Amino acid sequence: MERDAFLVTGGNSGIGFECARRLAREGWRVAMASRDRAASAQAVARITGETGNDAVCEMGLDLGSTASVRQLAREIAERGLLLRALVCNAGLQTNVLRLSSDGYERTFAVNHLGHFLLVNLLLERLRAQAPARIVVVASGVHDPRITTGARSRLGSGARLSAGAALHLGSHPTRRRALADAGRAEHQPGRQGR
Ligand SMILES: NC(=O)c1ccc[n+]([C@@H]2O[C@H](COP(=O)([O-])OP(=O)(O)OC[C@H]3O[C@@H](n4cnc5c(N)ncnc54)[C@H](OP(=O)(O)O)[C@@H]3O)[C@@H](O)[C@H]2O)c1
Repeated sequence: MERDAFLVTGGNSGIGFECARRLAREGWRVAMASRDRAASAQAVARITGETGNDAVCEMGLDLGSTASVRQLAREIAERGLLLRALVCNAGLQTNVLRLSSDGYERTFAVNHLGHFLLVNLLLERLRAQAPARIVVVASGVHDPRITTGARSRLGSGARLSAGAALHLGSHPTRRRALADAGRAEHQPGRQGR
């Protein structure tokens, strides 16, 4: 029987890798999605070798590109993944102002916009597997009071922050939709206090 799947963005290193390894050890089907597919293939091989779970795979994703996010959603549909959970883990922190291929500041594009689009594109698939879950990995970089982000061109003191969690769950309609998909946990972190 087809197993339910977890999709982990940025699963080829760091926290995402540890998350994917743990999920694999527990027997879930796991898909990790990142830009560096060679690194992802190595991560898959390591996890499969260590856990014996051969239902671990990697997929291509650049969260800074809406076209890439849409392509991933299409591939997930084509593969018929029974998506039980989405872990929005991938993220970056930089104090250098660089733009994504779509023309947005990269931290905002990758941490916010890409994940926002991905959640929206996968929401129905998650609802179909309810009780499903969307997990958003946050960070102090999401707090504008911590001035480590890239300087905004909008004002001298302003910084661009990157808090996917703050936007994914903030709108009442969105919160309801996320809650319908299962259990939507919204932990706003320091900014919300
Ligand atoms: N490490 C910490 O101390 C810490 C503390 C608080 C919060 N966090 C948060 O935890 C999350 C993971 O952090 P980490 O330290 O584990 O990071 P990491 O080791 O740098 O890993 C980042 C992951 O994100 C992927 N990634 C980066 N840009 C991407 C893009 N444009 N599209 C798709 N995937 C992308 C990377 O893979 P590719 O390069 O192959 O794309 C990699 O797998 C982040 O959201 C971070 O803000 C980390």
